[in-house]
Amino acid sequence: MTNLNPQAKQMADESMVRNLDAQARAIWPQEIPLLRRYLLPSEPRILDAGCGTGEASSRLAELFARATILGVDILDSHLDLARRRHAHLAPRLSFEHQSVYELRCADRSFDLTVCRHVLHSIPNADRVIAELRRVTRPGGYLHLIAEDYGMLHFQRGQLDPRDFWHLVPTQFGAATQTDLFVGRDALGILAAMKLQQIQVDYIVVDTLRVPRETFAAIIEAWRDGYAEAIGEYTEVRREEAVAYFNQMIANIRDPRGYAVWMVPVVSARLPF
Ligand SMILES: C[S@@+](CC[C@H](N)C(=O)[O-])C[C@H]1O[C@@H](n2cnc3c(N)ncnc32)[C@H](O)[C@@H]1O
Repeated sequence: MTNLNPQAKQMADESMVRNLDAQARAIWPQEIPLLRRYLLPSEPRILDAGCGTGEASSRLAELFARATILGVDILDSHLDLARRRHAHLAPRLSFEHQSVYELRCADRSFDLTVCRHVLHSIPNADRVIAELRRVTRPGGYLHLIAEDYGMLHFQRGQLDPRDFWHLVPTQFGAATQTDLFVGRDALGILAAMKLQQIQVDYIVVDTLRVPRETFAAIIEAWRDGYAEAIGEYTEVRREEAVAYFNQMIANIRDPRGYAVWMVPVVSARLPF
């Protein structure tokens, strides 16, 4: 039977809390203009599906000052942290234990449905996107950060990170029944649902646009959270994975180094 949460251990690790913090600091400044494009009512209802520690839910509440935001996740430790950290935004911002496979939300409930950094980590992304569509109102928007592990580029050193990124996501995805290249597949899923205004935009997390230490903190958190699972699921051993990650971190920290993670933001509007 398919494990619907194959990254449960990594999601619950302390390194994920660091990762979500660093990712939000890296990505949010470039995400704001994408979110501002949507034609939303003056008091929009927003869903943050798979909200984690509420990094984006709270930023959405600040960006849309009259919005009501519901963040849902299945990890209670993340939900507890989100409630504690963002208590000042309650009750406009609230958090509930709900699965994105079966939301306890009525059809057509939200003006904007956001799902960031989730679809690559769970099986059947198309099923989840269909559920997100169900709870979004006609004329409302889906805003998906659909990661794609073919869109990371680092310089060569003793090791060649191209070998790592060529092997690891394919084998990790096969072992966990997840699509680690969902970034390029999401457009087709949205098109099959007959959504409109489908766009793929890119947030560029690179050593020019994002502080090197923020970018390095993301890769450090990946190293700490995922090296063991990479050793288990792929032919790259845990120590080798650590060595690859350490070289990528050094590449980012090198004042003359250049590295880039292209992050697809896939959006669409529901027909009226
Ligand atoms: C990488 S985190 C992203 C968190 C948040 N969206 C952000 O951008 O900071 C992925 C989250 O998806 C959650 N998740 C995994 N399966 C889920 C499910 N079936 N329903 C709801 N959340 C889920 C995990 O618990 C985790 O908090």
